[in-house]
Amino acid sequence: MKIGILTGGGDCPGLNAVIRAVTKSALRRGWEVYGYLDGFKGFVEDKRRRLTDKDVSGIIIRGGTILGTSNIANPFSYTLPPYGSPSAPADMTERSIRNFKKLGLGALVAIGGDGTQSMSLRFHRLGLPVIGVPKTIDNDLSATDFTFGFDTALGVATEAVDRLHTTADSHDRVLIVETMGRYAGWIALRAGIAGGGDVILLPEIKYRPADVVAAIKDRQRRGKNFSIVVVSEGAAPEGGEMTVLKTVEGSTDPIRLGGVSYRIADMIERGAGIDARVVVLGHLQRGGEPTPFDRWLATGFGAGAAELIAARRFGRMVSIRGSEFTSAPLSAAVGKLKTVSTKSCEVRAALGVGTSFGRADLSARLMKKVCS
Ligand code: F6P
Repeated sequence: MKIGILTGGGDCPGLNAVIRAVTKSALRRGWEVYGYLDGFKGFVEDKRRRLTDKDVSGIIIRGGTILGTSNIANPFSYTLPPYGSPSAPADMTERSIRNFKKLGLGALVAIGGDGTQSMSLRFHRLGLPVIGVPKTIDNDLSATDFTFGFDTALGVATEAVDRLHTTADSHDRVLIVETMGRYAGWIALRAGIAGGGDVILLPEIKYRPADVVAAIKDRQRRGKNFSIVVVSEGAAPEGGEMTVLKTVEGSTDPIRLGGVSYRIADMIERGAGIDARVVVLGHLQRGGEPTPFDRWLATGFGAGAAELIAARRFGRMVSIRGSEFTSAPLSAAVGKLKTVSTKSCEVRAALGVGTSFGRADLSARLMKKVCS
């Protein structure tokens, strides 16, 4: 048996650990492994390399992906030259399936987030034996409790919050840390809780500018002359829009966010009369070595993908529920993102220790709920 593997979407710590686990598990079963280069771009253009044990040796600790990736290559609407362009996307479905069959592959392992898994599902429905592996630092995929990369990103964001405390305290400033998280605020929420952030702003809870300012002033009244605000890039004011940095034509999700923290700094400086500074973490959160948790998760996912192939259970995505590795139909994994529930006990816990979500009304409503 020959299998193909690709990494799609943004890079993420743990991709190499999955490639290693899939490859080693496959080689032990006597299969050949082919890695497509640059995600679905390599799949469309038939650019690939054979993976041996030597190729994947020692890569468990390396960030990024040895195969390369693309977050604009979509075989169903291909905008890359020489086949298509953003104004004239090409349908490369048949060509991709032909490449797959020509190589004699028995399965394709697609490692990626919502965009990649949606494409995987389409190929599966067209008859290709596909297995999905969930990746994203945002941890926003349905059908799994965790995606690998999230724990590493959370560590980076929490360390940033920790480090900024000293400057905020020494200079009586507000320091605003902007994390990634387009539609789901998991990184900001958990880094905010773990780092003791005073205000946490998430895409799921539209903030009220006056309530954010009131939270800072309230701390000042209590003799706390500095504050830490942790804001997700997708946060937006009530009745307002997210802060879009640019749009990338041809991408499955064309908007790129960034800069909401500058709006918030300005709002706080004007409203509370305190110096406010900004740190946008950006791609720092996606780089570097994966944490032990992410390496463990990625290895379980990769080995699980090989098991699903051996059992011929295609059209599924490996996942984790609690601490058990399992799988779910790809159809259950895509389309609906896993976002932070405003009713969740962790939001309530943060409110319980005095954290503001930029909504004074939330506290009163949520504190009535009992979690334990
Ligand atoms: O989906 C992962 C993610 O890192 C998001 O948090 C972020 O909005 C986006 O990718 C950034 O994409 P790019 O690397 O293309 O700027």
